[in-house]
Amino acid sequence: MTRENAGLEARLAEQESFEPPESFVEQANVADEGIYDEFEENWPACWEQAADLLDWDEPYDTVLEDDDAPFYEWFTGGRLNASANCLDRHVENGAKNRAAIKWEGELGETRTYTYGDLLYEVEAFAAALRDLGVEEDDVVTLYMPMIPELPIAMLACARIGAPHSVVFAGFSADALATRMNAADSEYLVTCDGYYRRGDALDHLSKANEGLGDVEHEVEDVVVVDRLGDAMDHDLAGNQHDYGDLVDAHRGETVDPVSRDAEDMLFLMYTSGTTGQPKGVKHTTGGYLAYTAWTSHAVLDVKPEDTYWCAADIGWITGHSYIVYGPLALGTTTLMYEGTPDYPEKDRMWELVEKNDVDIFYTAPTAIRAFMKWGTEYPDRHDLSSLRLLGTVGEPINPRAWKWYYEHIGGGECPIVDTWWQTETGGMMVTTLPGINTMKPGSAGPPLPGIDARVVDAQGETVEAGNAGYLTVQKPWPGMLRTLYNNDERFLNEYWREYSDEEADEWVYFPEDGAKIDEDGFITVLGRVDDVINVSGHRLGTMEIESAIVGTEGVAEAAVVGGDHEIKGEAVYAYVIPEDGYEGGDDLEAAIVEGVEDAIGPIARPEEVVFTPELPKTRSGKIMRRLLEDIASDNELGDTSTLRNPEIVDEIAAEVQGN
Ligand code: WT7
Repeated sequence: MTRENAGLEARLAEQESFEPPESFVEQANVADEGIYDEFEENWPACWEQAADLLDWDEPYDTVLEDDDAPFYEWFTGGRLNASANCLDRHVENGAKNRAAIKWEGELGETRTYTYGDLLYEVEAFAAALRDLGVEEDDVVTLYMPMIPELPIAMLACARIGAPHSVVFAGFSADALATRMNAADSEYLVTCDGYYRRGDALDHLSKANEGLGDVEHEVEDVVVVDRLGDAMDHDLAGNQHDYGDLVDAHRGETVDPVSRDAEDMLFLMYTSGTTGQPKGVKHTTGGYLAYTAWTSHAVLDVKPEDTYWCAADIGWITGHSYIVYGPLALGTTTLMYEGTPDYPEKDRMWELVEKNDVDIFYTAPTAIRAFMKWGTEYPDRHDLSSLRLLGTVGEPINPRAWKWYYEHIGGGECPIVDTWWQTETGGMMVTTLPGINTMKPGSAGPPLPGIDARVVDAQGETVEAGNAGYLTVQKPWPGMLRTLYNNDERFLNEYWREYSDEEADEWVYFPEDGAKIDEDGFITVLGRVDDVINVSGHRLGTMEIESAIVGTEGVAEAAVVGGDHEIKGEAVYAYVIPEDGYEGGDDLEAAIVEGVEDAIGPIARPEEVVFTPELPKTRSGKIMRRLLEDIASDNELGDTSTLRNPEIVDEIAAEVQGN
């Protein structure tokens, strides 16, 4: 580091707020701060601005229908098709030859689909799905990695009105089966395998294993041949080669099915506090309007941009901000198949330079890894095409924020730190990059039209400077409509905590803790339920515990999140071995394998601590807070209510000894 740089770093370290650069403000999609008042005064009609970004087959009669709150409906009476909004209208409006998806394979191969190409591919696969017998409202499960056939399949489903349920490719066979069972899904689209760090990974064997545990009959399975000769599989009787199916339907036109605004666009399963994942239901009109609007207002997406969200489409971030939002706006969205450090640690910056990326959106966990690898990697590349940076998924520490600002943005790109959830469909709390001052570490104010407040345990708004629970006190178009086939759980999980049901006043509780400052900026502190956030991915401690307890030799287990330098949080497992079993390397390996089989490698414990007992209250409840303190190396809290306080020191000694 040069002396000059050292001086700059020191100055940055002190700086607590940053103004958006003038060059950005001048061209920003949204730059008038009057938008906050305008949305407040004109609520809920303000959301027509979002709906106006779409083409409707039939206009809606009502913006918000709240008769059956909290089962809200948005843009009722309206009809539209999501794939027509993401494809056909751009083709008709002169963007036929603009790149819609630019795909970068891990091994260096690339594919570009113009809007015209993408429509052609989507129609061919939509025709194929129809031919297989997929009907409107049939749930189609997509278990695929980051290959173009995934967004093609999503849009093909949307075109024929079949909701998709995408299962992250890193999830295990068990996780696939659970999700197909929960959604009664009779169709699966998957692939033979994919590349990770240069190696061909088998995916179809995992899919087949999952299919073996599906409780109903699966009609058809479509298999994309990603690996060619690198991996051969025999296809079972109901399995079809994707390429053959599509070839048989090339050139066919499939009219987009006009869907009611409130018809389901997709389901996305996410972890909760119980072992059973929650099927979050998103609809066609509200979700698409909201993701298009936030892509426009927050990500500042313009049709001529090359925009890159480095998430996986298997999570909500990829649904909303790789596929639906950006394509609805007619921009070029970049998709990268692989890992950020392959073949070298400058892969992301090489791709930014090569593709002249304007907007880059990633997770704090990735930024912390880039920071650890060092500035030599971004320094190898010309990153001057960048105009805006974003982060999502977990709190970003000010040091990582400033590193991102300086070394990736060159001090000239605003950063949007966007708080939202699978359930919210799109961004909720973040700065508008053309308007607001940025404060590293704090997400920002609620977006216009979003009534997010920090409240105490009684539901009263806390004063500036205090912490409490984050709540959302008015509905918004991108909200989940229910949990699939489980209205009761929807009410319990999100609405029972702070609503006044008698008064018909409904408050959404996202289960996050937060702090608010005198400018109304919200700093999200993290989950307050038994959910941990590993590298921006949500994992239920119960799910992991049940996998561990299912391992032979385990009597009892408690899982908590502990601080981790890169991942934000990591999984810590405290395990009591069964009589006759040793808590050693063999049992640890079996536990890790059990977790990988039940959920996937992302849930792999960072540390397995064997102990003869777990700290419990007199009523027998495990004191997780203490286990969390041990995992994060914090000062230990009060142990006086424990039945077995001595065990805490023993466990702490064991963890610290490691
Ligand atoms: C949870 C939602 C939103 C897509 C990715 C994760 C945490 C998300 C932030 C942020 C602090 C954040 C929250 C939230 N979270 N964004 N900018 N700052 N925390 O989606 O799996 O549904 O998880 O991620 O705890 O509740 P998800």
